[in-house]
Amino acid sequence: MLSVVPRPVIVRAPSKVNLHLGVGDLREDGYHELTSVFQALSLSDDVHLTESDALTVRVRGVDADSVPTDRGNLVWQAAELLARRAGRSADVAITIVKGVPVAGGMAGGSADAAATLVGLNELWRLGLDRAELFELGAELGSDVPFTLHGMTALGTGRGEKLLPVLSRNSFHWVIALAKGGLSTPAVFRELDRLRAEGDPPRIGDPDELMHALAAGDATALAPLLGNDLQAAALSLKPELRRTLRAGVTAGALAGIVSGSGPTCAFLCSDEDVAVEVAAELAGAGVCRTIRVAHGPVPGARVLADDISR
Ligand code: C5P
Repeated sequence: MLSVVPRPVIVRAPSKVNLHLGVGDLREDGYHELTSVFQALSLSDDVHLTESDALTVRVRGVDADSVPTDRGNLVWQAAELLARRAGRSADVAITIVKGVPVAGGMAGGSADAAATLVGLNELWRLGLDRAELFELGAELGSDVPFTLHGMTALGTGRGEKLLPVLSRNSFHWVIALAKGGLSTPAVFRELDRLRAEGDPPRIGDPDELMHALAAGDATALAPLLGNDLQAAALSLKPELRRTLRAGVTAGALAGIVSGSGPTCAFLCSDEDVAVEVAAELAGAGVCRTIRVAHGPVPGARVLADDISR
């Protein structure tokens, strides 16, 4: 008898960079009120989901060894959450192929959770609509709804309330991965500490930045990039200052710490410049790995599945 090997549903989910990350005060629930303009980048993770008789998680690719394969992984929690919602068991074999730096401030873990929600909705034929997936995503983490949404969006609340932002043209980025990660809660705590001690400047509202996005103008956008978490990330990892300087010296229009860091993102005027900046940064020895990326790109989406299933 022929045995049929189940084929996976494969979902690709993007990383993100915060073009603007305004951090408000600490709320009573332990979160900070954010105003964030996110852009989804082509640097992405692929998540393979296959019918199985137990829930398992495997990880391949960049930094795979440092990613948990148990309940500590957001994909595990995503599978359990969706299974509870569907009233079924969470039996699925999940393989994550990492392209996004781990603990890098680029929402890699959130992207994997978003991909799992989209993929299991398909694999288990649940028929949940986008709004239902967004709601489940927000339960898992503040950045999960954006990695479902993709493109460019304004996030408020914890970052989970999203509105699309008009963005013309593609923007070209160089992504510099630092040695070692930074914990997101630790970076937020460091910002609270810096604010309790002094009064670090806060970025204003993102109105001008949104005009530059609508115009598709990288040169106008560059000086408007801003991140309130950058001071805290630099305080915990002062060597990032060198990386930021090196990227601009190499020809980038601007460099920022991505989200809670420690990854640095450099906006370049075009793809050729991005490739040159990447080569120069690699030679400068200020970071672990360099990638070239572009954005905006779509949110988590099914790449392929077995149509005969
Ligand atoms: O929502 P998520 O689990 O991704 O958040 C991780 C941590 O980042 C939170 O526990 C909190 O310490 C911090 N955070 C915050 N304010 C936000 C989002 C995250 O303080 N708006």
